[in-house]
Order: sequence, then C-alpha cells, then structure tokens
Amino acid sequence: MSAPQEALEYVRANRERYLSELKEFVNIPSISTLDEYKADVQRAAEWVAGQLRSLGMNNVQIMPTAGHPVVYGEWMRAGKSAPTIMIYGHYDVQPVDPIELWTSDPFRAEVRGDYLFGRGTSDMKGQVVASLKAVEAIVRTTGLPVNIKWLVEGEEEIGSEHLGDFIKEHKKMLACDYCLNPDAGMIAPDKPTITTGLRGLAYFELKVYGPDKDLHSGLFGGTIHNPAQALIELVAGMHDKNGKITLPGFYDKVRKLGRKEREDFKRLPVTNREIIQMTGVPALWGEPQFIPAERVGGRPTLEVNGLLSGFTGQGSKTVLPAWAMAKISCRLVPDQTPEETEKQLRAYLKKNAPKTIKWELKNLHNAGAALTETNSAGVQALAQALQTVWGKRPYFKREGGSIGSVVLLQKYVGADSLLSGFGLPDDNVHSPNERMNLPTWYKGIEAFTHFFYNF
Ligand code: BES
Ligand code: MN
Repeated sequence: MSAPQEALEYVRANRERYLSELKEFVNIPSISTLDEYKADVQRAAEWVAGQLRSLGMNNVQIMPTAGHPVVYGEWMRAGKSAPTIMIYGHYDVQPVDPIELWTSDPFRAEVRGDYLFGRGTSDMKGQVVASLKAVEAIVRTTGLPVNIKWLVEGEEEIGSEHLGDFIKEHKKMLACDYCLNPDAGMIAPDKPTITTGLRGLAYFELKVYGPDKDLHSGLFGGTIHNPAQALIELVAGMHDKNGKITLPGFYDKVRKLGRKEREDFKRLPVTNREIIQMTGVPALWGEPQFIPAERVGGRPTLEVNGLLSGFTGQGSKTVLPAWAMAKISCRLVPDQTPEETEKQLRAYLKKNAPKTIKWELKNLHNAGAALTETNSAGVQALAQALQTVWGKRPYFKREGGSIGSVVLLQKYVGADSLLSGFGLPDDNVHSPNERMNLPTWYKGIEAFTHFFYNF
C-alpha cells in the first residue's frame, strides 16, 4: 500500500472517533470576548495541547500572552532537507446570542442529518480537528514526511490583539516555510477553494454624549440635540448616495483591481441569486460598478455592527437619552492600513460633529489586509491535494473576512499562509445554528492528509 493510502485507510477507520473528539472540543464554550468564559477558553487551550501531546508532538506548551494563551507544539524529526509547515488555528469562538434562535444548545454539539451543529463547528474547531486528525493518521501509520509546528491561538475572534507581540518575540521558534491556515472556507461542497486574499479590519466604538443624564423629552426636547439623533446623522453621513464612503482620503490607498483580477472575479461560480437566497434579503446593495464577489473580496467597506441608545424596553418612555453608541468597523483592502483608517474617521468626526454634542472614539482592534502567493510549491501541494480528493482543480478566491495571523506571519516570519478550509457559506458562522457539513469535513481530512505527502 502506498504511504498516503495507508494513512487514508486510517482516517476512514477512525471517522466515528474523530467526530466524537470534535464534539468534545465544541462543547467547551471558549468565547474569547466574554470575561465570564475565561476558564473555558483556558480549557480549550488545554484540550488542544492534550491532542498535540497524544500525537507525540515535542515541546508542547500553553504559552501566556497579555490575553488568552497560544498553544505551541512541534515535530522536527523529518530532517533539515524537509520543509517545515506551520499549522495555524484558533480555539476561540464567537458569542452565541441571540440564544433563543438556536435549535439546539450551541455547546452540546449535535448531529442532524449531514451536519454537526454547535458554536465553532465550522469556525473553526472543525478545521482545527481536521488538521489534527490528518496529522494523527500520518503519525500513526507512515510517520510525518515534513516538519511541523503548531500555532493555535485564542484571540482570533477578537482581532488577535496579542498575537503580533507573541510572533515578534518568538520569531525563531516559529520559523517555517509555509503556514497551513484552514480558517477560510469553500465556495460550495463541490467546489474546493484556495483563498488568496483577505480583507483587513479596523474596529471602533463611537460614543456621542449630550446631557449629563436622561431627560424628560417634553421639558427639554427642542432645546437639546438628541445624542441618538446626532449619532445617526454622523453615521448616515459616512456613506454618500451611491454607497461610497465619505471619510477624507479613505480611497487614496485602495489598490485598483487589475484587468486579470477582475476576470478572475467574474469567473467565480457565485451568483447574485445565491447570495439573496442565503441571506434572505429582498435585493443586493453596494457599489454598482463592481460585482458582488469584487465588493466582498476587493473593495473596502464601513459597517455599523450595532447601535445603542435611550429606552429600548417594552412599551414607551418619553426620554431624551444622555448618550448614544455605535460599533463601527471598516473592512480594508491593500494598501489601506487600520492606523490611517482611524485618522480618517477622526478627521471626519472633527469636521462633521456638531457643537451640540461631545464624542469619543475608541479603536477596539485591527487586522491588516493580505494577499498571498498563488504559485508557490506550497500552493501547488495544496491544490494537488484538493484535486485528488474532489476530482477537480480548486478555485482561487479573494475573501472578505479577516485573519490577523496572515499578515503578522508574512511580516515577522516571512512565511506565506496557505488558506483553505472546509467551511461553507451557509454554515451560519457568527450566527445562530452554526453548523458544519460532515461529508465535506471527512473529505477535508483526507485532503490535508494528501497535502503533507505532496511535498
Ligand atoms: N474564519 C474567519 C475569517 C474568514 C471569514 C475568512 C470569511 C474567510 C472568509 C475568522 O474566524 C473571523 O471571523 N475573523 C474575524 C476577524 C476579526 C475579528 C479581526 C472577522 O473576519 O470578522
Ligand atoms: Mn470567525
């Protein structure tokens, strides 16, 4: 039996156990943004470290950062001439609210039909376990043909705030040829995908203050600028009628899409109808001169993530609120930077905020935009692996999400990320009823198994 074949047989023989271990991992509520889950976040790190130890990885450590810890482990016995592949993952997940929209407990992973439901199944505990289990199959059969290093963080969903310092500090330990990063998904179950770009992110909280306490709206309405109104006036002015962002200089550094790039976007098998169906909106929105795939993969945005002000309980209360708050974030493309974006937003506020209110802007977190190589030996090994399992060449796609580590590894380690995971657009990531398609996941484990032998 050929080497990959032996490992593939192992994968097939162990599917049930692989799934039950994934369930165990999903059942740990490792929500990185909420303080009350801190112990669970730690437990998830320990779960990953336990897996690495049982795989016989060396130097397995749960390494502290100023936030949640990083799990590290390595296997460097393939020799100096073999490549070193880092495997990146995150063990943290998003909050689950609104909880009442979940059909089953988000932290009691449940199989229904072809899907495993639970927070983090797709983003990205399923992807982490897929890489662990591909490596397990190789370790338990032929042994690893490459050196590997694991970097599994606990702050991806909150902007990888402390990962930059960590990587900078441990550059040597993290030296590698490529980073396999399965935190990006596929276009469809029958369309294997390699992601070749991610947008950056600059995330803000904008607070507008009016009177020093909530007031009777009859006694004071008409003499005082309502902060909720002032805030939405400011927010509304951040786009013009054509959906263009009005922050001064916002588009100055936006790299233009070339002709070849636009042709690639056009060739992607994504239709407007599908997006409408998946999201339930009556019609699409956005810059008319770009198709949706371009608007997501190659154009920047400014979004309101949430608004809060005044009385929002049952019934009515005639009140003029003391303050109003908006969570605002920009998705960025090369060559924009979060730092410049913050300056542009401040300039906009200075220019447009009325004298009747005070405002305060906080930058919560940032991630850089990234493009990755499309022609390296690593990409070829990955493309070949996907082709072997799916029987067709993968699609190459620039995605709209952000992953902090990609730019950080390019910058400090000089390693490019190979972005490919097995999540699907309708997995409800960050939403209620997150799920992962199991047949696709099993194929993914086999694809990663091939990947390591392809070097
Ligand atoms: N897996 C996603 C990133 C992603 C989404 C990649 C869609 C490709 C397509 C990741 O877990 C994520 O959600 N990241 C956050 C990062 C942010 C907090 C800096 C995001 O994009 O909102
Ligand atoms: Mn996510």
